[in-house]
Amino acid sequence: MSTGMHGPVVVVGAGHAGGTVAALLRQYGWVGAITLVGAERRAPYQRPPLSKGLMLGKVAPDELQLKPDAFYAERQIALRLGREVLRIDRESRQVHLDGGEFLPYEHLVIATGARLRPLPVPGAGLAGVVSLRTADDAMRLREAVRPGTRVVVVGGGYIGLEAAASARSLGAEVCVLEREDRLMARVASRELAAFVAGYARGQGVAIELGASVVGFDGEAERVRAARLADGRVLPCDLALVGIGVLAEQSLAEQAGLACEDGIVVDEEARTGDPAVSAIGDCTRRPIALFERRARLESVHNAMEQAKQVAARLCGKPQPPAEAPWTWSDQFDLRLQIAGLTTPGDQVVVRGDPEGRAFAIFHLSPEGVLRAVEAVNSPMDFAFARMAIGKRMRTPGERLRDVAIPLKEVAIA
Ligand code: NAI
Repeated sequence: MSTGMHGPVVVVGAGHAGGTVAALLRQYGWVGAITLVGAERRAPYQRPPLSKGLMLGKVAPDELQLKPDAFYAERQIALRLGREVLRIDRESRQVHLDGGEFLPYEHLVIATGARLRPLPVPGAGLAGVVSLRTADDAMRLREAVRPGTRVVVVGGGYIGLEAAASARSLGAEVCVLEREDRLMARVASRELAAFVAGYARGQGVAIELGASVVGFDGEAERVRAARLADGRVLPCDLALVGIGVLAEQSLAEQAGLACEDGIVVDEEARTGDPAVSAIGDCTRRPIALFERRARLESVHNAMEQAKQVAARLCGKPQPPAEAPWTWSDQFDLRLQIAGLTTPGDQVVVRGDPEGRAFAIFHLSPEGVLRAVEAVNSPMDFAFARMAIGKRMRTPGERLRDVAIPLKEVAIA
């Protein structure tokens, strides 16, 4: 950089992506001021445990911080928490905060994440109709869910299924309502979704597919039932809505940066303005290994793009392209998913779904490993993630044969 890494960097958004890029910039040698602005009052923390450990009362919010408070003070990373950026002025290179403050920047990193997709039905504002995005949301859920509490979960994606498993483990009566004809349509194959549905039902979670909520009924301003399009009325004490998220791109849009369901960035997380990068859930990015663009919602994506920006600004080599991956814990299942599937992929199951340890592999028509969905099989997952990154071929008939070790199946 022209200033030799002495100029001010402002990071908007103090989630996993924002917190990581601030820490990495210091680690890689940025000497200028770094300011991290976040709307929540907490320092950056891990979100994955919210629907699991935090909701179950196994961890406290403070234990989830990415870095302890002292880290930011020692590294001179200024935290502006509980503050909102109202506007980005690209011409004068400054951001406007609530309260009338301006922060000048040499480089700006937008890490604004995602916001909950609203469910615009009558009764959605009743007490007891809740969502789960922040640590405070998870703490409130933990308070509200008791043995026997009747919980309706709207949305059979990650949030819905993980929270359903946690609520069930706490003794609640749980019913998941998914609008599509299968669970996890955004993130998993039909094969995995069918397994998860069967498993959750076995644990006592009711799952209704093709179920559309048209409203909530209340009594004294509190939710009492969910009303479905087919006329059914499901009594409940609590309704958790987890029907996906939307990229939080309004600041970027107002600043005239290109957005297409996500702030458009290149393979090093640059926007169209050389002084502005964007990282994490809020971006639409190229996926090098798959020759496509996508908006990814995962910790891995947040960390990878944070590394891309910190390395680029500090003159370090770019991190190698990796297959996107994520995980989900539900009851005693650990699901680990890597790669991206394409319609027409060959699907091969290795292992024993009955024994609850198996992996679903997705191969291109040429036999190249494109994706893996592993259930309680971390070794298969680790190997497959590496093989996807190297575009290895894996003949389906050998992959199916558990007697052949995976490392002997793959052909470079
Ligand atoms: P999601 O996109 O994973 O799932 C939303 C689900 O709601 C989909 O199955 C969709 O078909 C369904 N849906 C949409 N509209 C509906 C409606 N009107 N009625 C019923 N169902 C409807 O999003 P989710 O689960 O809300 O998660 C939010 C965010 O949190 C995502 O970014 C997700 O990746 C993240 N997350 C990730 C976890 C993980 O990776 N293990 C765990 C928890 C959350």
